[in-house]
Amino acid sequence: MIHQKRREELLSRLPQDAVVIVSTNSEQKRNSDVCYPFRPDSNFWYLTGFEEPDAIAVFSHKNYSIFLRPKDHTKEIWNGIRLGVDLAPKTLLADQAFDIALFFEKIDSLVTDESSVYFDAPGNGGWKDNSSTNVLNKKIHSIYKESLLPLNPHVSEMRLIKDENEVRNMQYAADIAAEAHLNAMQSSQPGLYEYQIMAGFDSKFRQANCDHAYPPIVASGKNACILHYTENNKELKDGELLLIDAGCEINGYASDITRTFPINGKFTAAQKEIYEIVLDAQKSAIDSIQPGASSNLPHEVASEVITKGLLDIGIMSSADDLTKFYMHNTGHWLGLDVHDVGNKLIDNTFRKFKSGMVTTVEPGIYIRKDDKIDSKYWDIGIRIEDDVLVTESGNHVLSNKAIKEIDEIENFMSQR
Ligand code: GLY
Ligand code: MN
Ligand code: MN
Repeated sequence: MIHQKRREELLSRLPQDAVVIVSTNSEQKRNSDVCYPFRPDSNFWYLTGFEEPDAIAVFSHKNYSIFLRPKDHTKEIWNGIRLGVDLAPKTLLADQAFDIALFFEKIDSLVTDESSVYFDAPGNGGWKDNSSTNVLNKKIHSIYKESLLPLNPHVSEMRLIKDENEVRNMQYAADIAAEAHLNAMQSSQPGLYEYQIMAGFDSKFRQANCDHAYPPIVASGKNACILHYTENNKELKDGELLLIDAGCEINGYASDITRTFPINGKFTAAQKEIYEIVLDAQKSAIDSIQPGASSNLPHEVASEVITKGLLDIGIMSSADDLTKFYMHNTGHWLGLDVHDVGNKLIDNTFRKFKSGMVTTVEPGIYIRKDDKIDSKYWDIGIRIEDDVLVTESGNHVLSNKAIKEIDEIENFMSQR
């Protein structure tokens, strides 16, 4: 039902003669006859709720057709049950269903010369293959040429605002990931390896019947200064910090949480100094989130706090050096995709926050070895990342079960 409402809402934003064509992914081969775990295309999933590979939805004010894999006795014995053409209309609330092999034969009967056709090349392969010559993409472009209009911007506007059910899924994804971060704080100790800590996340997520929303970053010591470190294979050393950026995907919705804590449970004075700056930046950035505020305000606020902090302790001598130590943005939209859809800029102006949006807030400071900096700060990499829902009256931190105050972390870790 929710998917039908979304299709209706999408059509209400498009001209009366609009026809929407949206495809899901094909399975991606890993090697020989083994495929990567399948995940539907986010837009297709959002609009249809259908989770099988190789399907295309075509809908307008007059008709909703779904093209999908037909039943196949042998393939179903090997690879699992398919919905099939006969049951699809009732299950997916479509007017009609066809074998996907008939797509190019039937599409002409669903699109007239007057139709405005909305379609975008699927981001992750789409039906048939994932090359730049994707059959669907190429052929749709050649058939509809001038009448082809971009679909993604319209779906993105809808996906940007989460409804109650989406928020519930995101809260659950944040809760599960937060618990996994707390477990990691409890199990961390010198002599273990990063992958052993990662295994705690694998297990926690699997027990909740979900998976990682993105490859986790479990980065001890100087590895934390590599922003997308995913080797996760080094030994945890006494006196070093551990930065973990890990979140799960539940019913399609992602959490994205980073915590940084001392491996032995006690921050050094230098680590504390840097941590306090990042935490102050993060909390101030979160406080700036409310309906009507610029979506760039958290970045402006966090950058200001970090600049002042690094100047005060003498790590920077000029505000111009900020990007040497803080080189990424303070947040991104979060939803079905971990880096979710929706432009931040509209006509060169930052979009304003609205109730129902979810953004991450994730400032950090990364200090590499540098003779101009006191060596007590070398190799400290700290990021603190929360998932924040914009509400009618301000914001709600979905990931607030993951502790982040220095005292809280040290107390919690001392109880191991
Ligand atoms: N985990 C990816 C990010 O924080 O953006
Ligand atoms: Mn992250
Ligand atoms: Mn993030």
